[in-house]
Amino acid sequence: MGILLKWSAITQQEVIQLIELVNISKAYRSGSVSVEAIRNINLTVNKGEIFGIIGHSGAGKSTLLRCVNLLERPTTGSVKVGGAELTTLSPGQLQNQRRRIGMIFQHFNLLSLATVRENIAFPLRLAKLGKKEINHRVDELLQLVGLTDHADKYPSQLSGGQKQRVGIARALANNPDVLLCDEATSALDPQTTNSILALLVDINQKLGITILLITHEMHVIRSICDRVAVIDQGEVVEMGEVLKVFLKPEHAVTLDFVSQVADSFDPRELVGVRKGKLVRLNYVGDLTYEPILYNAVKATSIQFTILQGIVSRMKGTPYGQLVIELIGSGSEVDKVIAVLRGEGLDVGELT
Ligand SMILES: Nc1ncnc2c1ncn2[C@@H]1O[C@H](COP(=O)(O)OP(=O)(O)OP(=O)(O)O)[C@@H](O)[C@H]1O
Ligand SMILES: [Mg+2]
Repeated sequence: MGILLKWSAITQQEVIQLIELVNISKAYRSGSVSVEAIRNINLTVNKGEIFGIIGHSGAGKSTLLRCVNLLERPTTGSVKVGGAELTTLSPGQLQNQRRRIGMIFQHFNLLSLATVRENIAFPLRLAKLGKKEINHRVDELLQLVGLTDHADKYPSQLSGGQKQRVGIARALANNPDVLLCDEATSALDPQTTNSILALLVDINQKLGITILLITHEMHVIRSICDRVAVIDQGEVVEMGEVLKVFLKPEHAVTLDFVSQVADSFDPRELVGVRKGKLVRLNYVGDLTYEPILYNAVKATSIQFTILQGIVSRMKGTPYGQLVIELIGSGSEVDKVIAVLRGEGLDVGELT
């Protein structure tokens, strides 16, 4: 329980639900056949959060994301953004609400015959702003995404990362509350991916924009998301704080994604090979840097050896995971485990 308490303490802040999806389902019809792309999805995204949805190809990620701004109309269910129920709005009202929701895409979807400046100005023209106001706003946006020197270029003259920066500037033009990202970095190399992810974090922190992103890369989730939902065959199979999902994945699909970025050695292979008791220790937050293990064994005759370990940071929060072998008498081993748990460590017994 100790570790759960720590996790909730880390994210303690006032919670306002900005996106509320209740029982969303979407069936596509092709001829007489109906394909249910997503089924009974319930999902809430809090204001100020970066929320990630991960799933394999065809899992229903894009369908789900497109239901949030009603680019796709769910067959059943309710979609609320900022308290407004979108499914019952008139076309005019929906158009107004959509200004509060920006969106970026894997293949950028830029106007190829328009310059960077014109691409970014496009939604401002639709919102009927004056020419002077548009130019001023576009200059601000160019600066925000670092493209001031490229304003008069055409998309074909830009790198993938620069094209996505144009997409981001265009999505932010009308000062939305929410940014939806559909595989925004999947067409980019790892270094460019990281620079776009850093820009998204910057936008989230400086402008307070809530971000809902979909991806099939666990690296993206680990780098920038606060919470994650894992979607498989149209259903949410696991959801929670990223740190928790990483350290204790429960569903097979989640395990699959976590192993994309984790050490591939499974210490359970040592069960029966090593004679001592094997335990997995999870540390989160300040506990990570405390000499808890040393203190737990020092008054006993227990020896320990580390079989696997990582100490790292996730979104600035330290965490550690060690697999250790405790060597000594059964009663002393039990005592050490009790002390570790008493200190707030999550202790899993592998043998
Ligand atoms: N317009 C459509 N008409 C019919 N079926 C569709 C349509 N769009 C999606 N589907 C089907 O719905 C399911 C979910 O598709 P979706 O595009 O949401 O998946 P995804 O998780 O975004 O996949 P990817 O990672 O490949 O982008 C798939 O079986 C797909 O074939
Ligand atoms: Mg998709």
